[in-house]
Formats: sequence, structure tokens, C-alpha cells
Amino acid sequence: MTLTQEQVDFFHENGYLILPRELDSGKVMELFGRTKELLSDFSLEDHPMTTFSTDETAHVGDDYFLGSSDKVRFFFEGDAFGVDGELLKPKEKAINKIGHSLHVHDSKFRDATVNGRNKAIAQALGISDARVLQSMIICKQPEIGGAVPSHQDSVFLYTDPPSAVGFWYALEDCTAENGALSFVPGSHKWAGISKRMVRTNGASGGTGFINIEGISTPREPASEEFVMPECPAGTLVIIHGSILHKSETNKSEKSRYAYTFHMIDGSCKYDNKNWLQIPPTDEGGANFTRLYDEA
Ligand code: FE2
Repeated sequence: MTLTQEQVDFFHENGYLILPRELDSGKVMELFGRTKELLSDFSLEDHPMTTFSTDETAHVGDDYFLGSSDKVRFFFEGDAFGVDGELLKPKEKAINKIGHSLHVHDSKFRDATVNGRNKAIAQALGISDARVLQSMIICKQPEIGGAVPSHQDSVFLYTDPPSAVGFWYALEDCTAENGALSFVPGSHKWAGISKRMVRTNGASGGTGFINIEGISTPREPASEEFVMPECPAGTLVIIHGSILHKSETNKSEKSRYAYTFHMIDGSCKYDNKNWLQIPPTDEGGANFTRLYDEA
């Protein structure tokens, strides 16, 4: 059930860990099929057509986004729309991601998240009180799947000290053609978390970034520093919150569905400047799913 010492050492050394065949083909088909259902069942009627972009200058933070922490909501690819705002693709092929509370509201994704294996992995990695705070299906659609530039997850899921860890499951084969993940091995050791995304309620949208005092901005890695591990469907990738990673656009004819969730360590401070707060309380992560209690 747990990780080998070699796997734990690899994670601490490199900032990521590949676990091949973590999901068998039946489980992959189940989660893939459920994703298809969600995409075909959601309604365009009264949908605000919110897009999702990781471009820091883009507007991420309308009410539909900010209110998604305890719901299952659908965010569009920017390139799914034409110049006049018309949808260029069928809705099933236009969604960038579904989030952020599948691990609470969808039984199949809850089972894939809150279970004994993931508890054992989190414990092996030394997380003292694992709290799952968000989950997403990333669609990386054929032809329009957007790139995600180099980033660190702890910027978006900030704790003091930083503690975010991502679990990322390939639901389809991920290749260079359809926008696989790539990492700068070991960058979690030299790249500090120098800024964080916060709620601003400003004119340009509901979120922005502030600098973390005393931490210098990490240098931009050269493209040859990134490695792209092989990720056939069923692979689990564990991602340290400070590692620099990215994915390219998907211009191919194949989608690249993945399921991902993040946890933080409940022993670290999660404050209410973070965009992600689970109602009804605003008390820094009090309502996150406690993996060690609930699994
Ligand atoms: Fe990420």
C-alpha cells in the first residue's frame, strides 16, 4: 500500500514521482467515462461562459470561478470562442477544466481521492495532516488545449510554510503531441515561493498576486532543463508544490484527460487571503477534507 524508500527518496530529491499503472484499466475507464458524462450533462443555459487561463494578466476570478470551491463547475478554453464570442466547438470539446470539488460531490472521484492508498502515500511523504482542498479534471482538448507555462503550485495554494502536494492521474496516454507534463527535476530545492495568488476584489477581477517578503523570484529555467516523463493512462504523478513544471498546447487530434487533486499540510497556516475558501466558514482551511480521518 505504501511507497518504497527508493520512491520516497526520488520524490524528495527530484520534486516529483511517477507511479506507473497506479490505476488499472477498469478504473481509468470508469473515471474517463464519468468525465464524458459530466461534459455531456452540463447545461450551457445560464452558464456565464467563464474561461480558464493561467496567463497572469488574464481575468481569473469572476464569481463563477471564486464560488467553485465547493461545487463542480465547468471552465472553457479561451480558444473555444470565435472573435464574436461564439462557441466554435461542441461544448464537450470546449471545456478546459472541471472543478474544484469533485472529491466531495462526485462519488467516483471521491473514491479515487479519499482512499487508503492515497493516505499511505501522503504519510510516506511526511505530510503530517493531509487536507485535500481542491480537485479538477483537466481536459486538454484536441486542437485548442491551452499551454500551462512554467509555474509552482504553492503559488496558487499557499500555506506558511509552503506545503502543497499534487496528485495527478493520466486518464489517457500523455505524450509530447497532446501536451504532456514536464518538470525541472530538483527545482523545488532552489526555487522558492516568491509570490502568491490572493483574492483582491479589484477592478480587474477577483484575484491577483502579492510578493512574499524575503524570497527572491526564481530564475526562468531553460527549455532543456525540463524533462518529460512517460505517462501512459493510469499513471499517477506526485508533484511537489515548489517544483517548476509546465505543459504545452495540444494541437493534436487526441484529447489529454487527467484527474488531479491537491493537498496541503494542516499543520501549516492557510489564511483567508487564498482564493479557495470552503463555506460556511472563512477560517483558513477548516473545511478541507481530512484525508487521514476520512480515508
Ligand atoms: Fe501545476
